[in-house]
Formats: sequence, C-alpha cells, structure tokens
Amino acid sequence: MFFAKKNPLKSRDIISINDLSKDEIIYLLQQAVGLEDYNPKLLPDKIIASLFFEPSTRTRLSFDAAAKRLGAQVIGFDNIDTTSLKKGESFKDTIKMIEQYADVIVIRHPKEGSAQLAADLSHVPVINAGDGSNQHPTQTLVDLYTIKKEKGKLEGLTVGFLGDLKFGRTVHSLASALGLFNANIVFIAPKGLEMPAEYLKELQSKSVNFSQTADLLNVSQTLDVLYVTRIQEERFKNKKDYKKVAGSYQINKEMLANFKQDVLVMHPLPRLEEINQDVDETPNQGYFKQAGNAVAVRKAILASVLGRV
Ligand code: CP
Repeated sequence: MFFAKKNPLKSRDIISINDLSKDEIIYLLQQAVGLEDYNPKLLPDKIIASLFFEPSTRTRLSFDAAAKRLGAQVIGFDNIDTTSLKKGESFKDTIKMIEQYADVIVIRHPKEGSAQLAADLSHVPVINAGDGSNQHPTQTLVDLYTIKKEKGKLEGLTVGFLGDLKFGRTVHSLASALGLFNANIVFIAPKGLEMPAEYLKELQSKSVNFSQTADLLNVSQTLDVLYVTRIQEERFKNKKDYKKVAGSYQINKEMLANFKQDVLVMHPLPRLEEINQDVDETPNQGYFKQAGNAVAVRKAILASVLGRV
C-alpha cells in the first residue's frame, strides 16, 4: 500500500475533516499502515512548527514523535507566555514569522476558526490540531485508523457517541467522517450537551443515518463502537452549568455486560471519571490504542503534506 498511489495531499492544509474526500482519507490511512512500524528518514531537511496555544499531551507529543521518527526537526511552543504574544504581538504577525521558519505549521488554538485564519495567512501548509470546539481532523484520522484496525472495517458500523457532544470537537469531526462510510450514528448526551443543530443539519444534508437519545442502555446492544468524551469544562461560560452535568455518566466494566461482547470503547483522552479504570484491562479498551496509533497516522499526514510519499 505504501507509495501505492499519487499523493493527493501535497502542500494541502488540513483544517476540517470535510477538506478531505473519502479517497483522500483512505489514502492517508493506507500510508499510516505502511509507516506504522517503519521510520524512513523522509523529512531530514524539513522543519515542523508546533504551535500549541492550548494544552495538549497526545496531539503535540505524537506530532513531535512522528516528525522526529521521519527525521524532521520541530520548533514551536506549548505555552504562549514564553513568546512575544505575551508582549502583545498579534496572531497574524506570529504566523507571518513562523511561516518563514518552517515547512509546515501544526496549530492548536482555543478559538474556533484560528487554524483557518492561520492557513489564510501562511504560504506553508497548516494542520489543525484542534480549534476550540470546532474541529480536530487529525484525531479523526487516528480514530478511523483505530476503528479499521480493531473492527476490520469502516463501512456500515453502528457508532454511539456518549458525552459532551456540544463542545467535543473530536465528535464533530468524526461524525462527519463516519458519514462517508455509511455508519449508523447514535448521539447519547446529557441534557444541554446534545450535538449542535448545525452539525445535525450537515449530517442530514449528506443523508447520514443518525438518531439521538439520552438513554445509553436503550441502544447499548446495537453499538459496534462506543465513543466516549469528557465534559469540556474549559468551554463552559458558566461553571454552574458545568457542575449540573459533571459526572452524569460513567462506563465501567460491569456495564459492558449490556453491550455487544466485542464493543470497542474509544475515547480521545484525556478522561476524567467517564470511563472507569476497570475498563482498561478489558478486551474492549480502545483508547490507549488510539493514543498509540496517533504516531503512525501523524507520520502519514506530515509525509503526505510535505510531498514525501
Ligand atoms: N486527543 C487529544 O486531542 O488529546 P490532547 O488534548 O492531549 O492532545
């Protein structure tokens, strides 16, 4: 599969999962398969700018690891207090500097639309590593890779999304992508954290099969994948509203008896209490596998965007 087809991603921005066609997604997943246990030095002359305006463990470090595995160097920051932004420099000027220092920009920012703004300003490709509650397209590629690896296919699966569907950007990106693979999607959210109307409209316009419920146990037997998310406390304007929903759902080992025996339990992480640690040692655990697969997928993304596959 590796080097099999012409690279359609060369010099492209990846801002939303909707920027990618189904064929392009499959292309990236195939490249990731080829690179999973293989570290050719494809990028020895490349510099990756890693700009994290918001905290991250997995996304930042797996991009970092992917870049280094392929021989690239990484520059950037994970704390704006150490940059001239702290002195009042604008976002625009920051991007206009960094595009001259690097061959690709990976950016995470708390504000929706920031990655697109960076792409509009930059002559080098920009990869969105999460913009507010909007999109997290590279996490979606990691999620699809993990589903394909664990379930053996992507087509026609029934996938339940449980948790904070309002602010959870990984849900917004993954639901769109699963629509390309004829998924049946079930949204399961506490009151007030339902999937926003704009995303439901988008799914409707693409004739994606979905339903909504507040009762997980009503649908648990139908699910091939259960994708759990953390309640995104940092995105609530009012802490009282957060407290009303905090801790309102939890998956534990005992509850898995209500699901298909081979249900894959996923989570983009970090988790709080929404998945009990007793699920970690079950065969259903998929979340640490997602985190591990992130390196292969991000190797494929960097090598493709930089035109080295
Ligand atoms: N899944 C994810 O985006 O994790 P981080 O916030 O740690 O990058």
